[in-house]
Amino acid sequence: MPRLVFDYVEGGAGREVATARNEAEFDKVTLQSRVMRQTSARSLATSFLGYTYQRPFGIAPMGMCNIMWPGADQMLARAAKEMDIPLCLSSAASSTIEEMRDWAGENGWFQLYVSGSVDVAMKLIDRAEKAGYDHLVLTVDVPQVARRKRDCRNGFQMPFRIGPRQFLDFARHPNWAISTLLAGAPQPRNFQAGFDRSASRAGADWHFLDVLRKRWTGKLIVKGITCAQDALRIRNAGADAVYVSNHGGRQLDASPAAISLLPAIRAAVGPKYPLIFDSGLRSGEDIARAMALGADFVMLGRPLLYAIGAERERGLFSLLRIIAEELDLTLAQLGLTSPGDLSEETLAGACDAGIHTHHGQFFNKAGE
Ligand SMILES: Cc1cc2nc3c(=O)[nH]c(=O)nc-3n(C[C@H](O)[C@H](O)[C@H](O)COP(=O)(O)O)c2cc1C
Repeated sequence: MPRLVFDYVEGGAGREVATARNEAEFDKVTLQSRVMRQTSARSLATSFLGYTYQRPFGIAPMGMCNIMWPGADQMLARAAKEMDIPLCLSSAASSTIEEMRDWAGENGWFQLYVSGSVDVAMKLIDRAEKAGYDHLVLTVDVPQVARRKRDCRNGFQMPFRIGPRQFLDFARHPNWAISTLLAGAPQPRNFQAGFDRSASRAGADWHFLDVLRKRWTGKLIVKGITCAQDALRIRNAGADAVYVSNHGGRQLDASPAAISLLPAIRAAVGPKYPLIFDSGLRSGEDIARAMALGADFVMLGRPLLYAIGAERERGLFSLLRIIAEELDLTLAQLGLTSPGDLSEETLAGACDAGIHTHHGQFFNKAGE
């Protein structure tokens, strides 16, 4: 695909250190193999907020997916239904709230940006409710869209503005350009007065959360949390789940790796409170790592769009299957049979705790 399209997906804030850190930090989380346990009957089915999904992962909200390839939103919806995983439609999606609910059914969640006025946000909520969504994800980590240098360089805008530079970029990718031309240029479809990407989204404040909690009777999830104190306040405001994420490093280049924040946030909200996680997940083992560190459910972002870019629907399905298979094999290796078995006990070193060496001999806690 054109450079402008790939860079929109791949890029991050600033020098893209946070995006790189998200992935690098995953590699530092090591897990403990356990042997000779009976693990032949394994299942990835996972209950989250009252629903049982066939996998412990879903599709993170991403604006303008159809930019990757025409029909990407429908591909994601078919995958969500067939694999029985949730798909969160972005406020800035290239398909409407109503279309996605038709395509994804109960697997569809809706993500809300309070972009511009609170009135506009309330209208989106009304539409989501009317369409039958049960899950609302309020994203709060984009008070303003960060400077993403690649987008600045490429002149990325919504809706597209095609100058000579963009024209050349598109002309060099005729397959994408012709398919996109025939399907009609993708654009954010949920805002009547258009979607101003640079408008403030800071209307999603603590007061708004209280209003929203009274207004939305379904499941309410707050996304973009990196701070234990914020997580606790959101739990106390009555949200059903906290969604730990640094937006894939797309907002604050100085952000710590999202995965490194999970233990403190888990400790703050307590062992039972529902936590979702994204930012940097690239494999089934990464999912096991995040769940061992306290996530109950995780969401995949960029890799799904890369898969669509590479091989359309076939790429998407094969990526989701590979990730599920990797997670399944990881469970076997860890001596576990279900994602729900993953815990801090799964982290490397946990099985050695309480064992002390004494004159070269090993003792367990009971001194045996
Ligand atoms: C192209 C793109 C568009 C995104 N748009 C949104 C969005 O509209 N709303 C939102 O809450 N998050 C959005 N995100 C953030 C994702 O939901 C998710 O937090 C992030 O992709 C996780 O990082 P990872 O993909 O590197 O794992 C977007 C991410 C990407 C890559």
